[in-house]
Amino acid sequence: MTTAEGFAPAKVNLTLHVTGQRADGYHLLDSLVVFADLGDRLWYEPGPRLSLEVTGPFSQGVPADARNLVWRAAEAARWTGCIRLEKNLPHGAGIGGGSSDAAAALRDLGGPTSAALALGADVPVCLSSAPQRMTGIGEVLTLVPTVPALNMVLVNPGGAVPTPAVFAALAEKSHPAMDEIPAVAEHAEFIDWLSCQRNDLEAPARSCAPQIDAALTSLNQADLVRMSGSGATCFGVFADPGTAREAALRIGSLHPTWWVRACRTIAGSAGQVPPYG
Ligand code: C5P
Repeated sequence: MTTAEGFAPAKVNLTLHVTGQRADGYHLLDSLVVFADLGDRLWYEPGPRLSLEVTGPFSQGVPADARNLVWRAAEAARWTGCIRLEKNLPHGAGIGGGSSDAAAALRDLGGPTSAALALGADVPVCLSSAPQRMTGIGEVLTLVPTVPALNMVLVNPGGAVPTPAVFAALAEKSHPAMDEIPAVAEHAEFIDWLSCQRNDLEAPARSCAPQIDAALTSLNQADLVRMSGSGATCFGVFADPGTAREAALRIGSLHPTWWVRACRTIAGSAGQVPPYG
């Protein structure tokens, strides 16, 4: 029996502007989304029945049944067999987690992309690991080929942050959209542009989860520091991989209980497969 392998990269919202709210409560977003060269891994072995085994450092508390989005993605693909999911990313953490896993399974098992949005608002963007501008509630996607590869440190100070609570704590629902994305791939100019954009969920997330303040402060040597998604993971962008690695080592030794990783994001022009680290 052949076992196929899949990869679910960490999603990072370089920006996340909340521009309105629909009548059904879902929020309208304008977000620049990129993907990192680290993530969860999946293995698929076809068989007569669907089963799911969850392993890895963040497997605790992850359901291995129909509550798991990977299971529902397999059902949407009408696929049966054994799926092993290795959870390397913290979940409830603003970096994709379950959404990226679900998108990987849907894509790898040949499920219809039309099923993605019903699995979660973040699932459609995770179907591709290229940089994308995400609008609507997450379903309107445009590839942004000018985003350069970025050297980053991801810092998660612990404590799952429930996305609905963060949206509920957002006082003003209608913020300005992103500025026009520059047609340049040069690091400094891109960082200048990025520093004028926002994550509108940062303030409400900090009020729900005060540990985010310490995570942001720990990254103060980066060229740009921001929270991803609804938190609590924060990212720092560094000029080169060596500086990012040094920062990750320093932050990790100061905060041994935090999840701290240096990574590189997948550039817009690159169609290549990441080094599945
Ligand atoms: O779609 P998903 O289940 O991932 O979303 C989780 C929650 O996040 C939703 O129930 C909703 O409270 C909030 N959300 C939102 N607007 C979005 C995406 C998510 O209000 N565009």
